[in-house]
Amino acid sequence: MELIKNLKWRYAVKKYSDEKVSEVKVAQIVEAVNLTASSCGIQPYRLFVITNPVLRKKLGEGSFNTQIYDSSHLLVFAGFNKITNEYINEYIDMMEKQRNLEQGGLKLLEDSLTEYFSIQTPEQNAIWSDKQAYIGLGTALIAATELKVDATPMEGFDPILFDEVLGLTEKGLHASVILSLGYRDAENDYLASAKKARLPIDEFSTRIN
Ligand SMILES: Cc1cc2nc3c(=O)[nH]c(=O)nc-3n(C[C@H](O)[C@H](O)[C@H](O)COP(=O)(O)O)c2cc1C
Repeated sequence: MELIKNLKWRYAVKKYSDEKVSEVKVAQIVEAVNLTASSCGIQPYRLFVITNPVLRKKLGEGSFNTQIYDSSHLLVFAGFNKITNEYINEYIDMMEKQRNLEQGGLKLLEDSLTEYFSIQTPEQNAIWSDKQAYIGLGTALIAATELKVDATPMEGFDPILFDEVLGLTEKGLHASVILSLGYRDAENDYLASAKKARLPIDEFSTRIN
């Protein structure tokens, strides 16, 4: 399986070269995230692709992760603060159209989603959205690996600063997790030649027949 070989090749890059990732590849990574699974299928997060150097410098303030501004592209996964009835309604409308169903054809699904989310607190909604965003992060990592694009998943950033600078709060979003994309500077990255450290498979995975 080519993916295993590529996953052995990838690592969380600390130091990137100046080489830019092509927009075609970035678009493929974004499409892979859009196509991945989400619980209830309602994609409760949005993806921001940021190249603007001034903005990125600001976003990196106070963080030990220089990859925030020193890489080709920065992806920000932003979870919903709340799953509103309006959003569920719009999403179900879109599904009905895309599946050529009559309007109201997915009413049972809509009603059950509306009930399910209304009994949760906004905090629970936001945590649930974060979990879905992390599935997107995993998919982006794998897509980048297949394209031989380097990537660094990061939680080491200031979420309040990100929400402010990117105007996420007024969009009903919050920064969940981020991912830089680019190409490794193998000569200057101390991790480029480090052997991958992982548990033995038998310790990591248990088979129950
Ligand atoms: C959710 C998440 C958050 C992470 N946050 C950071 C981070 O802030 N900075 C960083 O350099 N690496 C970060 N990493 C990378 C991990 O340290 C790295 O994946 C781990 O050490 C395994 O090494 P490898 O990915 O190079 O194989 C993060 C990884 C994940 C999955």
